[in-house]
Amino acid sequence: MASVLVTGGAGYIGSHTCVALLGAGYEVTVLDSLANSSAAAIDAVGDIAGRRPRLDVVDCRGESAVERVFAEVRPDAVLHFAGLKSVPDSVADPLQYYRHNLESAAVLLSVMARCGVRRIVFSSSATVYGEPDVLPVPETAPTRPANPYGSSKLMIEQMIADVVRSDPRWSAAVLRYFNPVGAHPSGMIGEDPEGVPGNLMPYLLQVAVGRRPRLPLYGTDYPTPDGTALRDYVHVMDLAEGHLAALNHLDSAPGQVQAYNLGTGQGASVLEVIAAMREATGHPLPYEELGRRPGDISELWADPGKASWELGWSADRALGDMCRDAWAWQSTHPQGYRSRSLP
Ligand code: NAD
Ligand code: WQD
Repeated sequence: MASVLVTGGAGYIGSHTCVALLGAGYEVTVLDSLANSSAAAIDAVGDIAGRRPRLDVVDCRGESAVERVFAEVRPDAVLHFAGLKSVPDSVADPLQYYRHNLESAAVLLSVMARCGVRRIVFSSSATVYGEPDVLPVPETAPTRPANPYGSSKLMIEQMIADVVRSDPRWSAAVLRYFNPVGAHPSGMIGEDPEGVPGNLMPYLLQVAVGRRPRLPLYGTDYPTPDGTALRDYVHVMDLAEGHLAALNHLDSAPGQVQAYNLGTGQGASVLEVIAAMREATGHPLPYEELGRRPGDISELWADPGKASWELGWSADRALGDMCRDAWAWQSTHPQGYRSRSLP
């Protein structure tokens, strides 16, 4: 049975990917500092999969601790989710983002090289594209991230490409996620943001569950059919399956680093998301129309053709499924993972 090490595996996307990996028969070790997550997520992953992954509470930047885990686990491949991910925080404190994300990746790659582990799947982001010239966006589109978070992702992609070029025994996939939303259909794991949610779907869920009175709707004057911005929302379980497909493909692509867009290929407007969430939750979901959020773009959706041809992967779950599954999580965990310990 192949063994994989999942950095950031207690987080939102990592935990869902752990469920998919365990279901596919992998031995899974999670390496996570729990800086933005809870060990309760790993318990819930174990409950869903019937097998709890090993959890090492370790920071990726701590080289000797990371190396100890590698020596014990001897993974065949690494999925690297760990990192900081807030766009506004990265604008406010760019050096923290560069130091944290680049150092984590550099330490991890160094340990991998020393331990002879040369297969990696990296969590990149559609944010590396910035404002697109053409839609849908292919992987060959120019990359010009508009914030330090996106720049840190692009630099890590470059770091991985250079490592692969230096030693053709490596193979790597960088997955550019569009807008990950939803939850495992069991409702036992899901997104659990700290503080005020920065993203649309978690904010709407907290309105539905009564934690916030109304959604601030940013921008109703975009050049789109209903005036609100369009994004490519993709179900987190589709993403999880995309990681399995990418992992399986690594063996047949030695000496290569390939980037793949993981999205549905379709845009949905903010008003369409609100309508779908109303349908799923039965809640009126009031909103307040505000001006555009600084830094936002009008439209972004993926050309996911390369992932389909090369990995045999496509995102099949619809917006209604994303809302239904996200609500299964939020309605049963109104305070996120803290709800698990409530009587
Ligand atoms: P998350 O914050 O829920 O998960 C990240 C996990 O990494 C957390 O469990 C956190 O505790 C851990 N972590 C952070 N720094 C660490 C370190 N130095 N060492 C060990 N663990 C560390 O985020 P997520 O939404 O699951 O995102 C996972 C990855 O996907 C991130 O790299 C993120 O940049 C990327 N991504 C996310 C989105 C999105 O919208 N959620 C979109 C595109 C890309
Ligand atoms: C979607 C739309 C908002 C919140 C971000 C990151 C990106 C990637 C995914 C990591 C926009 C509007 C939002 C709210 C709103 N993450 N909105 N009220 O900005 O497309 O992408 O997450 O890699 O890097 O930038 O997603 O969910 O924040 O916004 O009206 O309270 O919803 O203005 O039009 P975004 P989002």
